[in-house]
Amino acid sequence: MAHRIVFLGPPGAGKGTQAARIAKEVGIPHLSTGDLLRAAVAARTPLGLQAEGHMRAGALVPDDLVLEILHDRLEQPDARAGYILDGFPRNLAQAEELGKFSEVDRVVSFDVSPDLLVRRLSERRTCPKCNSVYNLSTNPPKVPGRCDRDGTELIQRPDDRAEAVTTRLKVYAEQTAPLLEYYRKRRLLRTVDASGAPDEVTDRVRRALA
Ligand code: AP5
Repeated sequence: MAHRIVFLGPPGAGKGTQAARIAKEVGIPHLSTGDLLRAAVAARTPLGLQAEGHMRAGALVPDDLVLEILHDRLEQPDARAGYILDGFPRNLAQAEELGKFSEVDRVVSFDVSPDLLVRRLSERRTCPKCNSVYNLSTNPPKVPGRCDRDGTELIQRPDDRAEAVTTRLKVYAEQTAPLLEYYRKRRLLRTVDASGAPDEVTDRVRRALA
């Protein structure tokens, strides 16, 4: 199985849900630039303070900030055996930078209809402490409003509100979707149908990585 893996797809496609499952199965870290940035925002670091407004609006955070945070994370020992990158790269400049500091074995593209994306995002709730992801209809917490793992009160991400979702989908189409062709040309791309139940999608992702 490939070990240096990129998950590519629009907001709400299920990248984070599947990255958490596959990373645990394979024993490699799940590196989400969104989670790293949200942690920086929560900790009120200088980088987090610069990123916050961009994220809230649904825009991309400037490349230099994202590269700084990702580079630091990739240098940690647990990432030496491989990783799943979830949410990076997001544009051609980031893909070129990634190519300078790491090989990529496989890129999995998550394909979902726009209507389903909007529904998944509006129903998503997350744990601000451990980043667990829930869905009000497809994956509700055992106790309404509380994280199953640590009991923390679940939140709706500020960028899951309707206005920011519209911007995020537009940004994906304009800046991130061109990466599909970039990785197809390099023979690294596999596309999975990411609609259907999470277990079915996990099977498809496993096959794409085999
Ligand atoms: P980020 O956190 O990366 O958000 P995203 O890419 O928009 O992706 P999401 O986390 O919204 O969705 P997902 O595909 O992981 O879906 P999930 O599994 O949660 O980025 C946020 C922001 O940070 C960006 O807008 C930007 O500002 C900044 N940023 C991050 N990286 C950056 C970068 N590289 N450069 C610049 N800026 C960057 O699933 C969604 C919902 O659906 C959940 O409720 C889940 O339970 C449910 N679900 C999942 N799968 C299924 C299924 N099969 N069936 C039913 N329900 C499902």
